[in-house]
Amino acid sequence: MTTHEHPRAGLRVVGGGLPLLQVDNVSLEYRTPDRVVRATHRVSFDVHAADRFVLLGPSGCGKSTLLKAVAGFVPPAEGEIRLDGQRVRAPGPDRIVVFQEFDQLPPWKTVRQNVMFPLQRARGLSRAEASDTAMHFLDKVGLAGFADAYPHTLSGGMKQRVAIARALAMRPKVLLMDEPFAALDALTRRRMQEELLALWEDASFTLLFVTHSIEEALVVGSRILLLSPHPGRVRAELNSHQFSLASQGSAEFQHAAQRIHRTLFEEPEQAAPAATPQSRRATHTH
Ligand SMILES: Nc1ncnc2c1ncn2[C@@H]1O[C@H](COP(=O)(O)OP(=O)(O)OP(=O)(O)O)[C@@H](O)[C@H]1O
Ligand SMILES: [Mg+2]
Repeated sequence: MTTHEHPRAGLRVVGGGLPLLQVDNVSLEYRTPDRVVRATHRVSFDVHAADRFVLLGPSGCGKSTLLKAVAGFVPPAEGEIRLDGQRVRAPGPDRIVVFQEFDQLPPWKTVRQNVMFPLQRARGLSRAEASDTAMHFLDKVGLAGFADAYPHTLSGGMKQRVAIARALAMRPKVLLMDEPFAALDALTRRRMQEELLALWEDASFTLLFVTHSIEEALVVGSRILLLSPHPGRVRAELNSHQFSLASQGSAEFQHAAQRIHRTLFEEPEQAAPAATPQSRRATHTH
């Protein structure tokens, strides 16, 4: 039975509906001419509409590969990914990725043109409609005044805001973010986390967010999936909606961070088993 938080009504919905995104027993591999690298091993999790679901684990545990698989760029070697019950087989405008790199915006287009382009091409909006939608979302990220600027004239944080506006403007079923704030300075990173949460309150989207920062996972996430080191297996899944930037210094927050740290880095035999057929579902800790 699934239990999840309904963000608007503040209700807990028990067993309610099909999850929006189902990652079911998914192993992911890279095949090179001489060897096969297993990036994740039989990972399962469910993301419900309006979740802020975080994939957390050490470098190389397959977080980015999992996100690419959900985006449709990497086919599972085993298992299945379903969005609204339909198997994911290819990329689509219902899943948009925001990456860590600041250079994800074509430099020859203005900020507004960057946001308009996928709306016209993938969503079929007219120029005028795309322009209106672009301005609406640029306003939401505080960049309406930079609509006619070119990306190279913006700071890293501003470029990430454009990438977020461009992604949200597409109204994806799931917004996929791969360490989007990792290359920012600490203050900007904090501000971007705050802004992302405000955008989520406002636009109520579903987020799948990758990070290797325990603090960021607790602040940004409503649920966190903990992955073991390479190849990534599910260690545990926990609720984190009670934490925010404001609670970051609290004893409860520190305690949760320490517990996650132990779960991530303790020896596998002490950790929750997650990859055997009988126990492949996540261990739920609250
Ligand atoms: N193109 C590739 N070819 C072969 N192996 C790859 C490729 N990309 C990733 N890998 C391997 O797959 C594993 C998972 O990589 P992935 O990038 O998904 O990890 P990650 O959790 O995102 O790490 P990080 O936190 O450093 O970004 C790693 O062992 C990596 O070496
Ligand atoms: Mg990565």
